[in-house]
Parts: sequence; C-alpha cells; structure tokens
Amino acid sequence: MSSEANEKGVPGASDAAAGAGGAAPGGGKSMDAIMALCKRRGFVFQASDIYGGINGFWDYGPLGAQLKKNLRDAWWHDMVMNPCWGRKGPGGERVRCVPLETCIIQHPKVWEASGHVGGFNDPMVDDKETKQRYRADHLIVIRTRAFADKPTVAYIQGDDKSKKTATKKLEKLLGESSSAYELEEIEYTRLIRAHQERVIGPDATKPGTLTEPRMFNLMFDTITGAVRDEANKVYLRPETAQGIFIHFKNVVDSTRVKIPFGIGNTGKSFRNEVTPRNFTFRSREFEQAELEFFCHPDESMAWYAFWRDFRMDWWKSLGLAGENLILREHAKDELSHYSTGTSDVEYRFPFTAPGFGELEGIAHRGCYDLTQHQAHSKVKLDYFDTTRGEVLPNGGKKGERYMPHCIEPAAGLDRGALALICEGYTVDRSRPSPEILKLHPRIAPIKAAVFPLMDKDGMPEVAEKLTDDLFTRFGKGGFIESDAKQSIGKRYARMDEAGCPFCFTIDGDTMKDQTVTVRDRDTGQQERIGIDKVSGYLGERLG
Ligand code: GAP
Repeated sequence: MSSEANEKGVPGASDAAAGAGGAAPGGGKSMDAIMALCKRRGFVFQASDIYGGINGFWDYGPLGAQLKKNLRDAWWHDMVMNPCWGRKGPGGERVRCVPLETCIIQHPKVWEASGHVGGFNDPMVDDKETKQRYRADHLIVIRTRAFADKPTVAYIQGDDKSKKTATKKLEKLLGESSSAYELEEIEYTRLIRAHQERVIGPDATKPGTLTEPRMFNLMFDTITGAVRDEANKVYLRPETAQGIFIHFKNVVDSTRVKIPFGIGNTGKSFRNEVTPRNFTFRSREFEQAELEFFCHPDESMAWYAFWRDFRMDWWKSLGLAGENLILREHAKDELSHYSTGTSDVEYRFPFTAPGFGELEGIAHRGCYDLTQHQAHSKVKLDYFDTTRGEVLPNGGKKGERYMPHCIEPAAGLDRGALALICEGYTVDRSRPSPEILKLHPRIAPIKAAVFPLMDKDGMPEVAEKLTDDLFTRFGKGGFIESDAKQSIGKRYARMDEAGCPFCFTIDGDTMKDQTVTVRDRDTGQQERIGIDKVSGYLGERLG
C-alpha cells in the first residue's frame, strides 16, 4: 500500500509519489535511451504497437518476458518456497509460506468488502478543449504572486517537458514584463473554483477549459454472461491481495499451516490510472507479487519489522543496493486508519530523480481485511490457536480464538523489472560499444553466450557442443545464446546491451589446447579457462 496522497482511505490503493524532477536525469541516465534499448533488444514493446499503441499498456519482448519470469521466480522462491533464505522469524521460528493462484474476476462483493467499490478513487480533471484527462493532484499551476488577474498555466507534475511548455506559455502571455513578476507554484486542487477557471491546461490554448476535479473509480468493470445489465457487472481485480484474504479459511482447512504463516499470490492487476506514464512505472495492466503474512496480534509489530527489513535486503540482493534504494517509513498522518505501520521500498528512477518512486509497500494491515470479509460474507474467518491460552491439567493448552493480524509485503513486478533495467543501464564511453545492461546474473535473461571466433575450422561444432552442455545445466533460468555472425566486437556489444553476463569464445587455440576465452560483461576483461571448466565457472557465478 502506498504513500501517494490519492488513496482516500482505501486499502492498497496506489503507489508513492514519484518524486520531483520529471525527466531530470537520475545518475545521468536518460529514460529515452533506456526505452530505446528496451525496444531495440526486445525487452519491452508498446502494446498494440503496429496500431499506434494503447496508452498505459506495455508488452514484454523475448528478453523482457524472460527477465520478468526470472524476477517472479526469484520472488516465488525466496518468499514462498524457501522464505527469507532460511532466515529465522522474530521468535526464532522457521518462516512458513504457501502459494495460491486466484482469479482476476471475483464476486463483486469482494471489492465492496475490501473498500474498492466505495473508495478506490483518484481525483480527475478533464480539459474540454483538448479532451485530455489529468490526475487533479498531479496538476501544478504556475501563477504570478500577488497578481490574481494575470494568466495562470498548469503543467503535469514530474513531466519536465510539460513544465517547460507551461513556463514558456506563461512568459509569452505576460510579455516583456514577465521578469517583473515573482512566480509561485500551487497544486490545482488547492485553488478555489474561481481561480481554477483562470488556468490554462497543460495542452490547452485558452483559460477555463479545465473542469472541476471529480472522483474517478480506478477499477475496470465488465459483464459476465450473455445479458448485459448492471446485475452482471464484475470487476478486474485491482490487487492480488484480496484473493488471499477470501481463501484464508480454505487454506487453513486444507493444509497443515499454523499461524504464523504467509500466503503468496502473483498475477496481473488492473487499474484504470487517470494518467499512466513513465514507461511501465504506472500502467493500467501490471503484475503484482503479494504476500499476506498472518500472525497473532501481539507479535505483529515484530513481524512487520522482520518483513520490512527482509524485503529491503531482497531488492539489494538483486543489485539495487546503494544510494538509489531507500526504505521510507510512512509518517503517522500518511497511514490508513487500520494500519499501525507502513514502509515503502523506493527506487530512484531516472524520471523521479532526485526523488524516489515506490517499488513495494510493506504494510501492517491489522485485522482489517479478514474482519471486513467476515462481516460481508457472514463466514467466520477467525482462527483457533491451539498453542495459546492457559495450560490445562493434562499439560496441553486451552487454546485462544482471535482474528489474525496481517503483514503485507506488496511488490510490483513491472516496477521491479524497470528498476533493475534502469540500475543496470550503464554508459561507458571508454568501451567501443558504450551501452551496457549490468543485470544481476540471477535475473539476466541470457545467462551466457558461446561464440565461435570464425565460422570454420571446427569452431562452430565445438561451440554448438558447449552451447548444448550449458543449456542442459542452465537453460531453465534463461537463454544460452550462440552466434557465429558478424565481428566478435559486434557480437560482444550485442550481448552487453542484452545484459548477458558472460561470453565464451572458441578460437584457434581452443582447437589446440582445449581452452576458451571468457569475457566479463561488466569489466570487459577476458581470461582463458579450460573448456571443461566452463560449466563450473558459470555455475559459481550464476549462483
Ligand atoms: N495490496 C496492496 C497494494 O496493492 P499498492 O501500493 O497499491 O498496494 C503494490 O500496490 C505495488 O504494485 C506497488 O508498490 C507497485 O510496485 C505496483 N503498482 C501499483 N500500481 C501500479 C501501476 N499502476 N503500474 C505498475 N505498478 C503498479
């Protein structure tokens, strides 16, 4: 759940403010260059590209699909199969989690109970002149201080180009005297209506075309069955979390899990974002990886701290360590009414720099969700804990019935993939091909490449054999590429851009002494090792 001020009391409604700065470079990285590389190397394509695209939807190409799968698999492994790398919980216990896979469409009452039907809203503004729609809380107005009768213009927060256009527009309207005025910036929603009517919208030419802000529900709806009426209206889930709460009882009854334990769920979620932007950061269809960890209320704060720290360590382990990653604890006035603690793992994306954007929220949700679903479904969702209560004469425990509390680490896989790409994107002008994608080997979609230096003299055959061997051992985590075309420099450059950590080259010497060249993507350094050592070498480095 997020810190973004649009949440209006709805659980898990949105993400953190993307920070200031718009297109300001983050560590000198250009978002345009990163997007171009993503398209060129087949990481991310605009959805419906050949039809001009569709706003807020992105598809993953061959390398992006594998990268995202590796991220999802890493989450699944480290959160569900071997939770927290075997790290012990706050009471010294083993952390236990089970998976679940739930439908995108559920009974509409699920979303009434969760609060999404009534309150999952963003304030939105339409521009009657340009037919554009904006998030009202993302519209920033520039106006002259103390001269209320002068023109005022609006730009989209975090969009450098929009701010430049608005500033130019205002200077033109004020004419030569523009430098004589002191300017101020204010959020559109904070203006009284009379002042809103003087604003020229980000893409408009005249004032007064922006409507009053009104609330807009972010859930997509559709109809089930053949009859298109309101009674058959259903929603595409805006989060995977609710699928977990509604099956809490089924999981307890069908498995041997005992509190404390977690349930993980990954999959697509849908939000009709008013202003999808910043590449895949805010899209209308995205993938979440959420865990709900159920525990006794008295132990919930300790589990909250435990998960918050582990999630930060997890992102660091994938290569997001350093000053671009922070853990931000929400201030008391940012918390939802039911939450006693929420922290966001935030990454400094090039488009949020120098600010940060939310990657994952870790929320203490109390017993809010189970209580809500119990009230709406009339099914008892409390838990009878046989390990608690007074000690009986026979040495056993009387037991205690309670509503479990829940800690929720909720990550976005698209934002995770984007952060890993942005972090890995490196320009090194000292190298013949300066663009390199330094992806962590665990996440890299191509694990290794094998090149015959020349397409003759037995080299292709040796390369093919090595490719097959490596594929057998490492192929389930990613591609093993083999390429005999172009100069070796071009082949290395191609692999650098694709984020392939190691290239093995078969050359004339291989045929004599059974050694190959290994080239490290990050340093460009080469060394020679025996061809029989390649698999072990790669195994050690891929982990
Ligand atoms: N169940 C809690 C929940 O859904 P959230 O903060 O709204 O909380 C969790 O979402 C994560 O999902 C966010 O941290 C973010 O990574 C991702 N996410 C949310 N909205 C998104 C969007 N429009 N586009 C891409 N990712 C999004």
